[in-house]
Amino acid sequence: MSSYSKLITSIQESKTLAITSLIKKLRAEGQEILSFSAGEPDFNTPEYIKFAAISAINKNKTKYTPVQGTAELIESIIKKFKNENNLFFTNENILVSTGAKQSLFNVMMALCNPGDEVIFQAPYWVSYPEITKIAQAKPIVINTNTKSNFKINPEQLEKVITEKTKIFLFNSPSNPTGTVYSKSEIRELAEVLISKDIFILTDEIYEKIIFDGEEHFSFGSIDELRDRTITINGVSKAFAMTGWRIGYAGGNKGIIKLAKNLQSQSTSNASSISQAAATAALKGNGNEIKKMVEEFDLRRNYIVKELQSIENLTCPKPKGAFYTFFDVSRYYNKSYNNFIVSDSISFCNYLLNEASIGLVPGVAFGNDNCVRMSYAASMKNIKEGINRLKKSLLKLS
Ligand SMILES: Cc1ncc(COP(=O)(O)O)c(C=O)c1O
Repeated sequence: MSSYSKLITSIQESKTLAITSLIKKLRAEGQEILSFSAGEPDFNTPEYIKFAAISAINKNKTKYTPVQGTAELIESIIKKFKNENNLFFTNENILVSTGAKQSLFNVMMALCNPGDEVIFQAPYWVSYPEITKIAQAKPIVINTNTKSNFKINPEQLEKVITEKTKIFLFNSPSNPTGTVYSKSEIRELAEVLISKDIFILTDEIYEKIIFDGEEHFSFGSIDELRDRTITINGVSKAFAMTGWRIGYAGGNKGIIKLAKNLQSQSTSNASSISQAAATAALKGNGNEIKKMVEEFDLRRNYIVKELQSIENLTCPKPKGAFYTFFDVSRYYNKSYNNFIVSDSISFCNYLLNEASIGLVPGVAFGNDNCVRMSYAASMKNIKEGINRLKKSLLKLS
């Protein structure tokens, strides 16, 4: 048989999706696993959004739509960007895609040439390095740790910029760390970028899930960077709509045109029914989001207090998203029953076997000292999970 694509053979399966399917498999075999690996809200899509989708079906809105998205959805996105992000777009600046993941993919493909460099920080969302590689560019990773609350500073950014740098890829609030950059921190990073010929790709998918009065600030609203910032967002996280697959990009019309051409030759338009649902979501009054964020906040406070009380863990308090990301490396080289914990994967395997709880190894996000625990899980399961975690950690010596 002839050989497969070298490029695609080098791409790894999404490690978070792989963990979720392992947990599903163990459950199917009868094991009672408490999973804290979810990358999606555990809430249902609000009724008014579901109603809009049902009504779209009944009105036979079941045909192809323009590749770019329906006129109604594009109009709602333009309004959202203007009112909430201080970003001023017209139709040609917007592309609706099948999830924010596809939005990122399209834009990276539209911008990168072989040998270009894409800068982002670790811990990063699992897909960043792989999408960068598919776009034939090179990931340039700036490492961070708990000491800086998983944030980079302008000096670190400046240091890694070369003539090959094409994109600075930014994510706040962050998956996996929950870190939120303040307006002034973003402005400081922007100062480095203003004098350089680099695109900024900002992934704002967790924008609405933010705590402690923090305010989300969009990179693209900085005047000097407006023309070369592409803002990615979607409805998956804010509206508990992960399965509907709607994401969108807003930015320079030349880039959006290329991304649209690419999409026209791959998936065409995002689902017509999901687009009707997303339009309703964006037109809503935000009450459902508020309730969801309040519930996440209760869980976050509980979980962080408990994790911080465990002597050998270091857990910075996340300010956004629905994840805690904590350093477990002081357990490395400890063992129980001849099982040695030596890295984030063996740490998670230990907890899966010993406590039947599922966390995601930090190595999937580029940091092998940490693990990710999602609190998109019921308070009852979180309490039980934390008890099991504590008991199992006490056994390690
Ligand atoms: C940081 C980040 N960006 C983008 C996405 C993709 O979201 P979507 O479901 O819209 O493809 C995710 C999903 O987990 C994410 O965590």
